[in-house]
Amino acid sequence: MIRYVALEGVDGAGKSTITDRLAARLEMDGHEVVRVREPGGTVVGEEVRSLLLHGGEIASWTEALLFAAQRAELAETVIRPALERGAFVISDRSLYSSLAYQGGARGLGVEAVRTANLIGLGGTLPELVVVLDVTVDEALDRQEMGDRIGSAGRQIQEAVAATYRQLADAEPERVRIVGTGSIDETTSAVYNLVVSG
Ligand code: TMP
Repeated sequence: MIRYVALEGVDGAGKSTITDRLAARLEMDGHEVVRVREPGGTVVGEEVRSLLLHGGEIASWTEALLFAAQRAELAETVIRPALERGAFVISDRSLYSSLAYQGGARGLGVEAVRTANLIGLGGTLPELVVVLDVTVDEALDRQEMGDRIGSAGRQIQEAVAATYRQLADAEPERVRIVGTGSIDETTSAVYNLVVSG
C-alpha cells in the first residue's frame, strides 16, 4: 500500500495546490497526513533552502549535496517516524527533483546524483512519484519568478521535463506522469493512483 507520495514537476506545474488538495482528501477519509516540502520541512532543511534558493552562485555538486543533506534530515526526523506510525506522507518534491534538476538539467548524471542521495536516505523513498505534466510555456506563465533555481530559464525547464519523462520510462512502477486538467480532475487522478497502489 502506498503511504509516501511525492509530487513533482517543472517550476510552476501546480504541485503545491495538488499537494494541498490531495492531503485534504486523504484527511477526509480519516487518515493522518503529514505534508512536507523539499527543500525544507526541518530546521536544518529550511536553512539549507534559503542558502540554495536565495544564496549566490553555488558549484553544481555543492548544490546537489546540500539538497541531499536536507533530504537525509527530513527522512530521518520526519518521514520515517510518520510512516512508522501509519501516516500518509505527501511531499512537494523529493529525490526525483534532484535526479531531474541536478542529474539531468545540470548535467551531473542521474545515477551519480541518485547514489549520492541514497547514502543518506536509509531506504526511505517515495513509493509513488507523480509528475504533473504541464507544458513549459504554461508553467513559465504560472511561475513566481525570483528564486535562483526557478528562474534558470526555459532550457533548464525543458531539460528537467525531459529527465522526468526518462525516469517515468525507466521506473514505470514508481514514477507516473499525470496530465493536468482542472484542479479537481488532477487531484482525483492523483488520489486514484494513491488509493489503488
Ligand atoms: P519549489 O519551487 O518547488 O519550492 O522548489 C524550489 C526549487 O528548487 C525549484 O526550482 C526546484 C529546485 N530543486 C532542485 O533543483 N533540486 C531538488 O532536489 C529540489 C528538491 C528542488
